[in-house]
Amino acid sequence: MQMKVFSTADVLSQAAAHLISEEIEELLSKQDQVTIVFSTGSSQLKFFDHLILEKVDWAKVRMFHLDEYINLPETHEASFRKYLTEKFIDQVGPLKEVYLVDGNQDPATEIARLSKALKAYPIDIGLIGIGGNAHIAFNDPPANFSTTEAFHVVNLEDRCKLQQVEEGWFAEIGDVPDQAISMTIRQIMQCKLILSIVPYLSKAEAVLKTLETPDPTPEIPATILKTHPNFHLYLDEDSASLLPDELRERYE
Ligand code: GLP
Repeated sequence: MQMKVFSTADVLSQAAAHLISEEIEELLSKQDQVTIVFSTGSSQLKFFDHLILEKVDWAKVRMFHLDEYINLPETHEASFRKYLTEKFIDQVGPLKEVYLVDGNQDPATEIARLSKALKAYPIDIGLIGIGGNAHIAFNDPPANFSTTEAFHVVNLEDRCKLQQVEEGWFAEIGDVPDQAISMTIRQIMQCKLILSIVPYLSKAEAVLKTLETPDPTPEIPATILKTHPNFHLYLDEDSASLLPDELRERYE
């Protein structure tokens, strides 16, 4: 694992965008297309602002995304399809192919559609955010580490719902859908490279728990990322603020 701590979320996001653009260029020198899975949420906003400025041959990039609420209209401010369409796809398009998770379809049918596509197109780059409860995608603790499905239906826990309210995506906790379609942990771990963009003070405790816990545990889902052979963790001084020197030295 390679950890970097940047002075601010903006500096972090610019460096992350640059790393991804370089990685895409490198991959396209050896293959004719690149497949990426994107995270959403507040933590990724500045990253998209910088990514759309990078010089990338987007017509050769196929995109997936990690998760979507079940039964939330696409016009809702919190819809991840709306987020990705407005903040990324409309800014850089056209991409080679776009696979958005449609939470308004029958979940089993939608999961089958996405799983089939993922089998055909292994993911080169995974942009995997870490939630305030240390979830990855919408795999809240205790996360299912063993399912071999590519996507599954998950129940959202209150801490996860509260984060969405605190970030202003919903007015109150009762407005947050109870379920989502999420990429599974095993599928996430199959990405050839994983970059986690994790800024802000609200993530400091999740970052500490993830780094100080020696073995992967479903209670802290992000711990599994440390076993990935090509895992990059990008923090800012706020999200790294609870880390003791010993942990910073070990991973930096
Ligand atoms: C969110 C999103 C995911 C994201 C993760 C962390 O709820 N649905 O796509 O990777 O959970 O997001 P954030 O960093 O905003 O907490």
